[in-house]
Amino acid sequence: MKFLVTGAAGFIGFHVSERLLAAGHQVIGIDNLNDYYDVNLKLARLDLLKKHSAFRFDKIDLADGEAMATLFSTEQFQRVIHLAAQAGVRYSLENPHAYAQANLIGHLNVLEGCRHNKIEHLLYASSSSVYGLNRKMPFSTEDSVDHPVSLYAATKKANELMAHTYSHLYGLPTTGLRFFTVYGPWGRPDMALFKFTKAIIEGKSIDVYNHGQMRRDFTYIDDIAEAIVRLQDVIPEPDANWTVEQGTPATSSAPYRVYNIGNSSPVALMDYISALEKALGKEAIKNMLPMQPGDVLATSADTQALYEVIGFKPHTSVEEGVQQFVDWYKNFYHVA
Ligand SMILES: NC(=O)c1ccc[n+]([C@@H]2O[C@H](COP(=O)([O-])OP(=O)(O)OC[C@H]3O[C@@H](n4cnc5c(N)ncnc54)[C@H](O)[C@@H]3O)[C@@H](O)[C@H]2O)c1
Repeated sequence: MKFLVTGAAGFIGFHVSERLLAAGHQVIGIDNLNDYYDVNLKLARLDLLKKHSAFRFDKIDLADGEAMATLFSTEQFQRVIHLAAQAGVRYSLENPHAYAQANLIGHLNVLEGCRHNKIEHLLYASSSSVYGLNRKMPFSTEDSVDHPVSLYAATKKANELMAHTYSHLYGLPTTGLRFFTVYGPWGRPDMALFKFTKAIIEGKSIDVYNHGQMRRDFTYIDDIAEAIVRLQDVIPEPDANWTVEQGTPATSSAPYRVYNIGNSSPVALMDYISALEKALGKEAIKNMLPMQPGDVLATSADTQALYEVIGFKPHTSVEEGVQQFVDWYKNFYHVA
């Protein structure tokens, strides 16, 4: 099959593209290669993808409506996995406009491309951050998510609403993927594991927010990629019996679904740091700090619905996943 993967030079897009190519699919990857973090890491991921003859890369900005429309009409993809976005909760307090461009205008351009070119299935990245002020654990796609605490989260919730509209109006099958703190080899330099690893190796202190009193459902990248590759074959169908009163927010009378993709076993931040210290064989110098605006105290995914449709849910332990990350980091950055 012919896939469009947006954000193919990004962390998750790279891994998903690798998996699709290994399964014999054709992949066209797009990315604007912005410098939100080290562009060399994005280029290194692309170098690996370019080794596959069934892969092609186009440098395109999602917000460029004309370029996106031309891409869709020329290529006639069967399926689209939309992972490009301005990511990061904290940066959305500094540069909110970047999120409007990439995550709102960009998402609209993807939806328009799918609408006009009869795409079989659009899968797109949402985020556990949509759970915002929700306190009921684990977070369930059956719960309402109307109280985000960052603009990033608000754009991800908006992505789900926009997708629903296109599923309803044009019968476009859409699946929203609420990822929970993804980590692993080729991971993002703006995320905790990467920053902690670099600092510990360099003998510098690490910033530990809310004095370490946080829990996260850390989810290993291979589990995320496996879930996406399985889900792309589960094309949502309209449910004629669905009503707002009796259905759940994750389903609809339209061909629309939303799933949590998380490890369903939240880990305390201090235990995550301990796993890293063990993998590195070195203790961290910890700089204990208060909670950051926009952050949430804990995340935990209810993955029952995911398991029911794909017979799989993320399961890799933090000890195993962190060790894999450290091995990759040392090899990539030539650390002895
Ligand atoms: N990594 C996580 O923990 C996590 C958690 C929840 C949700 N997500 C979501 O998953 C998706 C992938 O995240 P990731 O961790 O791989 O992030 P990433 O930043 O590594 O990848 C995103 C890619 O999109 C590209 N991009 C950004 N704006 C673009 C634009 N306007 N046009 C074209 N390309 C653009 C970037 O250059 C980058 O390569 C994102 O939508 C993110 O919001 C990630």
